[in-house]
Amino acid sequence: MIIALNNKCNLTKQEFLKYQEELGSLSTQNKLILCPTFLNIGHFDLKNVELGAQNVSFNDQGAYTGEVSAQQLQSEQVKYCIVGHSERRNYQQETDEEINQKIMRLLEQDIIPILCVGETKEEREKQLEKSIIEKELTIALANLTSEQKEKIIIAYEPIWSIGTGIIPTNDQIKEMFKNIKNMVPNNKVLYGGSANEENIVLLKEIKEIDGYLLGGLSLKPEKLKVFIEKLEN
Ligand code: 13P
Repeated sequence: MIIALNNKCNLTKQEFLKYQEELGSLSTQNKLILCPTFLNIGHFDLKNVELGAQNVSFNDQGAYTGEVSAQQLQSEQVKYCIVGHSERRNYQQETDEEINQKIMRLLEQDIIPILCVGETKEEREKQLEKSIIEKELTIALANLTSEQKEKIIIAYEPIWSIGTGIIPTNDQIKEMFKNIKNMVPNNKVLYGGSANEENIVLLKEIKEIDGYLLGGLSLKPEKLKVFIEKLEN
């Protein structure tokens, strides 16, 4: 299983250094990936965790003020990078075509993309969740060879579940995983959205889940420890 931690825009340098000390004592048989803010990437210093980023430029390096390139991430030993998070699609108006370009830049640098897909509450109410995910996957994965495609980790994150404390029913998750795995049968698929140390008991019954992408819980090492213990026992 993969447990990916998305710190989002949290933790100052001082807070991150303290946080790392706590994460350093986590032991797990699963793969842990930490995605700090860009500024904290340079302070990453853990042996039990792999390093990820939360975003990347769709351009190579050059005259793109404020951007961070895949080459720069590679030079910091970044191994994974989240792309297409719903917060970026929403607040930065990121498009599926741009996400496709970001995936290309990452693969050129041997960085594994963690591609987020998911529907809004309104889309689910209109029963559009399946077609939304199909569209997001089709465009984001366009023009990739099957070998490139299989490297990508998909994260199903229903937007109505992120940060709300509400999770879909197990049947709803299974249905979406079935749809995703029909399209990309050889890819790992994570679940993200209000996963925590309590609902993991229910979520772990879903055998199709290959891991989790954790937001809020990533910031609470004590609770994360409980999450991992319950997942593994
Ligand atoms: P929460 O776990 O805080 O709901 O966030 C999920 C998420 O967006 C991870 O990328």
